[in-house]
Amino acid sequence: MDIQRPRGTRDFLFDEMRLRKQVENTLRRIFEAYCYQEIKTPLFEDLALFTMKSGDGIMEQIYHFQDKGGRDLALRPELTAPVARLYINELQKKSKPIKMYYYGSCFRYERPQKGRWRQFWQLGCELIGGKSPESEAEIIAMAAHCLEELGLEDFEIHIGNLGIIRGILDEADVSKEEQDKIMAIVDKGEVEELKAILKEFKIDSNTNNILIKLVDMNGNREIIKKVYELINHNKSASKALKELEELLKILEAFGFMKYTVNLGIARGLDYYSGAVFEIYVHSLGAQKQISGGGTYNLIELFGGEKVESTGFAFGFDRLVECVKRCGIEKPQTSMVDVFVAPISADVKLKAFEIAQMLRKDGIKTDVDLMGRKLKKILAQADNLGVSYVIVVGERDLKEGKITLKNMDSGLQELMEINKVSDYLKEIGI
Ligand code: HAM
Repeated sequence: MDIQRPRGTRDFLFDEMRLRKQVENTLRRIFEAYCYQEIKTPLFEDLALFTMKSGDGIMEQIYHFQDKGGRDLALRPELTAPVARLYINELQKKSKPIKMYYYGSCFRYERPQKGRWRQFWQLGCELIGGKSPESEAEIIAMAAHCLEELGLEDFEIHIGNLGIIRGILDEADVSKEEQDKIMAIVDKGEVEELKAILKEFKIDSNTNNILIKLVDMNGNREIIKKVYELINHNKSASKALKELEELLKILEAFGFMKYTVNLGIARGLDYYSGAVFEIYVHSLGAQKQISGGGTYNLIELFGGEKVESTGFAFGFDRLVECVKRCGIEKPQTSMVDVFVAPISADVKLKAFEIAQMLRKDGIKTDVDLMGRKLKKILAQADNLGVSYVIVVGERDLKEGKITLKNMDSGLQELMEINKVSDYLKEIGI
């Protein structure tokens, strides 16, 4: 039987895993420098957690199933709703703000293509109980910091505020349901589709004009002035725009100036309520969005008290692809530093003992498990790029010694067994 991987999933081999670990460790280090602590939530949750407020888009993509007890469960398509649930279950009494980060796989049933998978990984964070726009600014600065630390340069951070479009729609008495549908189309960036739905919902021509112009507005801080002119009369849209302006000011104080103001950002998930942002790397093509986030209102919706929350997640797989394309991977370190080679079967037990001693001292050590001849072991060690081979022979052992062979120079040295670890560490292994 020919068994294949499920569609939209991948196997990762050694080099890929090394690179992924490298990216993961860099991101963890930065998140922890901003005092985020790691959490882990289950891979599957109650289906209802995701159907309440994540939006129709997510619903269509959910992997859901009934377990043997007849419970409706879903593989998580994202981690913000699970973290909001965790907060309500475990952390409501804890003093705020609470800074949490996570790394784990998500599942979405979508049409697989380059950069779009059915199982993919997110590394992201949620800041619960912080104040806007300070929290939003710090989060965006941290996202930029991560990308800079990875050595990426060609990223763009686009920032908007949903309150602007929503304010305009509220004023035009557009219902919440219709607003959600309009926002979903704004998120797709299809102007013709937007015009069609505005017509279908019989939105008045003034509102119509403002919206069509708004979703197309992006640029540097200068465009804020033009947006004020456009929405001048609208109280809640102006309030949201003022918040956005304040966010940009704080973001600059955090040292990040390279942002783009983009009023067309709507986000695909329905729970966002204020500032939103997306990060693009255009060279990735269609799946250029490597991160998304913003301020949301999920906790209250799940039955908790009202608490300001903001967060974002990197699409980890897309991020790794960027690092790969830029050729900025760190040089690969050898998998094996030392290979222990028993000369004969009589000394193999001693060889295992020596290998174990080195491993406990933190030295990457392999040992021959196949009873091969020394010549073969040396050839394999050479293949693996091993720096040193420890030759274990009966005669040397009688004096408590081994022979340490430098594989680059070919030089050999007789050495007391209990001095080997210290020596290898001294020379930087
Ligand atoms: P999202 O934009 O749906 O936001 O996903 C975050 C990132 O995950 C995207 O920007 C993208 O890079 C990556 N991504 C999404 N779908 C796929 C896929 N099928 N294959 C590969 N990568 C993908 C969220 O999930 C929010 N929970 C983010 C957030 C956290 N908002 C507040 N806190």
